[in-house]
Amino acid sequence: MWKLGNLDIDGKVVLAPMAGITSSGYREFFKQFGVAISVSEMVSDMGLIYGNQETKTYVDFAPQKYTGVQLFGYEPENIKKAAEIALKLNKNIDFFDINMGCPVPKVTKTGAGSSLLKDPKRCGDIVRAIKSVCDLPVTAKIRLGWDEQSINYLDVIRELEDAGVDAIAIHARTKKELYSGTPHYELLKGLQSKMKVPLIVSGNIFKLDDAINAIDITGATAVMVARGAIGNPYLVKQIDTYYRTGERLPDPSCLDQIRWCLELCDFLIKEKGEETALRIYRGIASKFFSGFANSKHYRKRLSMELTDRQSLVNILEDIKEELKE
Ligand SMILES: Cc1cc2nc3c(=O)[nH]c(=O)nc-3n(C[C@H](O)[C@H](O)[C@H](O)COP(=O)(O)O)c2cc1C
Repeated sequence: MWKLGNLDIDGKVVLAPMAGITSSGYREFFKQFGVAISVSEMVSDMGLIYGNQETKTYVDFAPQKYTGVQLFGYEPENIKKAAEIALKLNKNIDFFDINMGCPVPKVTKTGAGSSLLKDPKRCGDIVRAIKSVCDLPVTAKIRLGWDEQSINYLDVIRELEDAGVDAIAIHARTKKELYSGTPHYELLKGLQSKMKVPLIVSGNIFKLDDAINAIDITGATAVMVARGAIGNPYLVKQIDTYYRTGERLPDPSCLDQIRWCLELCDFLIKEKGEETALRIYRGIASKFFSGFANSKHYRKRLSMELTDRQSLVNILEDIKEELKE
């Protein structure tokens, strides 16, 4: 059990924010595997201020304990306004997270995302601004720094803590490294013991041992699972179970994967309707079968032939048939 502001959090696994992926249906599906807290896809402050319809859908979800809305922006005043609008639209928001790590040029050129790392004081001001309009916990998601010459996460952490942040997630890469290469957990050795608030670590958590390694080195309170759980939701269960009981659960069978592949699709259909859900699912479904025999053939079919739910059912039936042979 750990505290996120006034919330009691039971579990070590945080479902990472992933634009285009961690929609409310995706997060809902993941709850059964032991996700302690989830974060929405990133939400533009200006999108909320201008009343953009699509932006509004990102903050619309049923109670989903515990889920934070991740906001991105540059001006503390605008982020504050966006938080107020989000709360008017949805009373089920449990906390706010601020994106201070996105490396996408469309975001960084406005001064938002990882550009904020260049101005630690502004990072603190953003937290203060949100805190001035609501009592919810506020978290921040940062990176090591902009590039290897400007690794300044300790300065950013200090500013955020002084501003009253309730937890900090750090992706152990610089902005320049984007999503590739090995994350630099070695730089974060013992980091949690130097901090006042819970630390959540992120970067290449693909297997249980990656989570154990990241937590052992940093002493982090929790670990964030991102790409590693796309098509492998059981990874969350494996990490959660290990930290509750010490047990190492075996990897899931192909039959389990078939079941979850359809189940997640149904969560997305419920949320978005069949057409939109299946369009998104073309990028997700095949991930359930990487590492299984003959998976290349099925992965190709799953990314090319998905048009509606029935097409998914048909391919999954073919995979099942092959398992019997
Ligand atoms: C497709 C995709 C979308 C992402 N979107 C966001 C986002 O909206 N906000 C954010 O803070 N991080 C975002 N991230 C970063 C992840 O939350 C995570 O920190 C990163 O992928 C490192 O973890 P991993 O190496 O285990 O995937 C995204 C990552 C991916 C792959």
